[in-house]
Amino acid sequence: MLGRDASVEVAPAITGPRAADRNIALNTGEKDGFYRPSQHLGRIREQFEREGKNAESFVRSHVRRLEALHRAGHVERLDDDHWQVPGDIIERGQAYDRARGGDSARIKTLASRNLEQQIGSDAATWNMCPRALERAFRAHPAARAVIVVHIYGLAADMDAILEVCRKHRAAVIEDAAEALGTLYKGRHVGTFGDCGALSFNGNKIITTSGGGMLVSDDSALAVSYTHLTLPTIYSV
Ligand SMILES: Cc1ncc(COP(=O)(O)O)c(C=O)c1O
Repeated sequence: MLGRDASVEVAPAITGPRAADRNIALNTGEKDGFYRPSQHLGRIREQFEREGKNAESFVRSHVRRLEALHRAGHVERLDDDHWQVPGDIIERGQAYDRARGGDSARIKTLASRNLEQQIGSDAATWNMCPRALERAFRAHPAARAVIVVHIYGLAADMDAILEVCRKHRAAVIEDAAEALGTLYKGRHVGTFGDCGALSFNGNKIITTSGGGMLVSDDSALAVSYTHLTLPTIYSV
């Protein structure tokens, strides 16, 4: 259910066959009925290179589509490079999309709070604006914690934000998942607030495949993290 004043994006209904399904049909061997990602890649690579486009990710998007159709029982996977595709894959793809509501408009919630309630960002840092934070405290004086997210490798204006938070007696949690290695006035972000969070997921700056780290110079607080996920505490 959508609340009042939410920001949404309305995507038009999917009409007609998907380009990916047409490409899969075009690249499926007439005789053996196999779609082979390596062959598809071989066919398009040169042209894509000339046009500066990424052929691998293009072919991968077709494999992802096949994986979805496979889960719905429309195609078979023999191995990474052999997908058994039926001759009516385009019609099946359309039926699959329709069954998943593809013929009605899709609504994606971008924000459940209205713009007035969101804390604006600062043009200089692209991060939380300290003046907007001060206004937010006026609207929500009972707030006890602020999560500052440093995005795109850029640091939020921590001096000003900490000042506002101290004034309102709110704890500060920094999310430095996108800013590992970023310095603010010579010091790493994530080390200014009461605690800082780092992510080592596969799409992050360094990765351990999954997981992350909470950092704090308050040992009592660090110990209290243990009940959350049973992590290891490293003291430095
Ligand atoms: C700023 C920020 N915080 C948190 C996360 C979530 O991290 P994880 O992937 O470890 O759940 C992300 C992931 O994209 C992120 O960009």
